[in-house]
Amino acid sequence: MSHEPPADVTRRITLPEIAATVQRGGRLVVVTAYDAPSARIADQAGVDMILVGDSAGTTVLGLDATVPVTMEEMIVLTRAASRGARRALVVADMPFGSYQISETDAVANAVRFLKDAGADAVKLEGAGRTLTRIGAIHDAGIPVMGHIGLTPQSATLLGGYKAQGRTAAAARRLVDEAVALERAGCFSIVLEAMPAPVAARVTEAVSIPTIGIGAGASCSGQVLVWHDLVGLTPDPARFVKTYADLAGVLRGALTAYVRDVRDGTFPDASHTYGMPDAERLRFEDQLTSRRTTRSRS
Ligand code: KIV
Repeated sequence: MSHEPPADVTRRITLPEIAATVQRGGRLVVVTAYDAPSARIADQAGVDMILVGDSAGTTVLGLDATVPVTMEEMIVLTRAASRGARRALVVADMPFGSYQISETDAVANAVRFLKDAGADAVKLEGAGRTLTRIGAIHDAGIPVMGHIGLTPQSATLLGGYKAQGRTAAAARRLVDEAVALERAGCFSIVLEAMPAPVAARVTEAVSIPTIGIGAGASCSGQVLVWHDLVGLTPDPARFVKTYADLAGVLRGALTAYVRDVRDGTFPDASHTYGMPDAERLRFEDQLTSRRTTRSRS
């Protein structure tokens, strides 16, 4: 099965096409991106969905958690990623505080992601209290992705950044939450950091695609964070597979640049603009006569 989008595809993938991929036995590929060039590369590589995750807080904004990430920051990042995506569906992560306060707020913020930032869908963390917000956003005609298991916005409540669903009761709760998210209208659900057999049962329990991250191979698809995937995260989690050493490549490039500027080998003639000889001579003459006039006065 080819993973390349046909060369003539100029529109984004639709939700029925995403569902059909899974029904045909295909696996969905999702990656985070926070800017236009990264989204363009992910799109060209054939990913199905680009998630503008609030992981941007730690990957690009220099924070140590996702909770402080704001709507304004997410709008800017989503707008940029959306400009780079041609075929991939763009999912914007709703930051903490953008859907907890009221249904009205949740819908208004979700609408902003579609109207102001070019997203196709939004993602919300959690089930329980989040279900009514998901229902309201879905009723407003906005596709919603759910997210259960390790939900970083509530890491403090969960006792830290650790795998969830490791007891029979907790695993059962995850199945119930997934079923409730499907009923609330989600078109897919991220399953983060849970035992593979639990994610497999969750996937069987729902008819919408599950997207795993640290949840084993039985999910309908996988998501990785861009910076983890390309080697820009110093100490990635155990479930990450790193496909490139971009940090090494970038460090090498920057070290060479520093050396070239300091020893005068950059820029050379090939990086420099010239001008016609006649114009240069006229310019030099003008400077000379200006100096002569000044020294006389
Ligand atoms: O914010 C994010 O990048 C996410 C993914 C890890 C699923 O929520």
